[in-house]
Amino acid sequence: MKVLTVVGARPQFIKAAVISPRLRQGVDEVLVHTGQHYDALMSDVFFAELNVPAPNYQLNVGSASHGEQTARMMSGLEPIFMHEAPDVVLLYGDTNSTLSGALVAAKLTIPVAHVEAGLRSFNRAMPEEINRVLTDHVADRLYCPTEGAALQLQQEGIVNGVIRSGDVMDELLLQTRRIPELLPSLQLEPQAYYLVTVHRQENTDDLDRLQGIVGALAALPGPIVWPMHPRTAKRLQEARLMDRLGPSVRRIDPVGYREMITLESQAKGVLTDSGGVQREAAALGVPVYVLRNETEWTDLVDEGRAMLVGADLGRILDAVMRSPMKPRALHLDRRPSEIIVEDLHRHY
Ligand code: UD1
Ligand code: UDP
Repeated sequence: MKVLTVVGARPQFIKAAVISPRLRQGVDEVLVHTGQHYDALMSDVFFAELNVPAPNYQLNVGSASHGEQTARMMSGLEPIFMHEAPDVVLLYGDTNSTLSGALVAAKLTIPVAHVEAGLRSFNRAMPEEINRVLTDHVADRLYCPTEGAALQLQQEGIVNGVIRSGDVMDELLLQTRRIPELLPSLQLEPQAYYLVTVHRQENTDDLDRLQGIVGALAALPGPIVWPMHPRTAKRLQEARLMDRLGPSVRRIDPVGYREMITLESQAKGVLTDSGGVQREAAALGVPVYVLRNETEWTDLVDEGRAMLVGADLGRILDAVMRSPMKPRALHLDRRPSEIIVEDLHRHY
């Protein structure tokens, strides 16, 4: 069996770290990096830290508008898919790298396997929602992280190839060691700081929302640690909002995976619009305030493990001051990577 895997953005390198090593025990895997994320701190760091195999192909597409970026990826992927002729194309999540791989494979009639299938925010203004819906509807094997995701696919008429695999991010989190010296090196005390991440287009490209978030952070009791996505750094600079953050907000560069898990696990609260970070923090039992109006991880909100707080200053402050939420028990009967790799073996 030959599997061709497409990755391109930070959370995909992290997910590949779970699947690729297991896949390579007996399977020929070709790894393609689209180049959607290219800064060393958004890409190389994860390959090195998590032992993700080096990509066989690097498309270097870089940043562009959605149409332009997706088109560049597709024209880079098509000749590779034709040359490699894989038995199946493996895709993760909901980025433009995911969608481009799905479209090219489907048109070449190569089967598509989608890890993290069935998640929905029901907000079609969100680029990720378009990417995940379209990918699921051309996928042949759909690996669902939650029961809700599998039920959603059923409601959309997708019944074949739906597998309840569990969440590969949970598997990695369970085996990740913390870095004990990290907090002292940042002069932070356990349970005495907030952790923030922001990168969603709906927040970075909407000045009202960005101002709401900045205002709330400036008003919260510090220290607040913010490993800043390059997109957000650019927007804050352009909007001249960087100085409005105030002295309690410590802006740092994006950090590695183990550093991030260490920071999440010791925080007194996590404010984020990231899918991965909200899930990890909830699993670690840390209160999560989701800086969005909806989430695709609805189970967290339904079970009271995360709170939707939008991007409105008053709403964010009010929620953070009221905190405690229930931790999500992190338990896996079977490793999602085992279920996924076994299923691929069975079908291809
Ligand atoms: C992308 C995904 C999003 C995912 C996120 C993970 C899409 C539509 N979005 O969002 O689903 O949650 O990755 O982090 O695929 N930039 C750099 N250096 C980099 C990468 C990006 O400076 O290495 C800057 C560029 O200005 C770029 C902007 O960030 O225009 C946005 O990058 P892009 O990959 O388009 O979207 P993300 O917000 O990272
Ligand atoms: N992450 C990281 N360093 C950071 C920010 C996030 O290692 O500075 C990790 C985080 O722990 C999670 C993943 O990146 O595992 C989430 O990626 P991101 O927030 O970029 O994307 P999303 O999950 O929203 O698609």
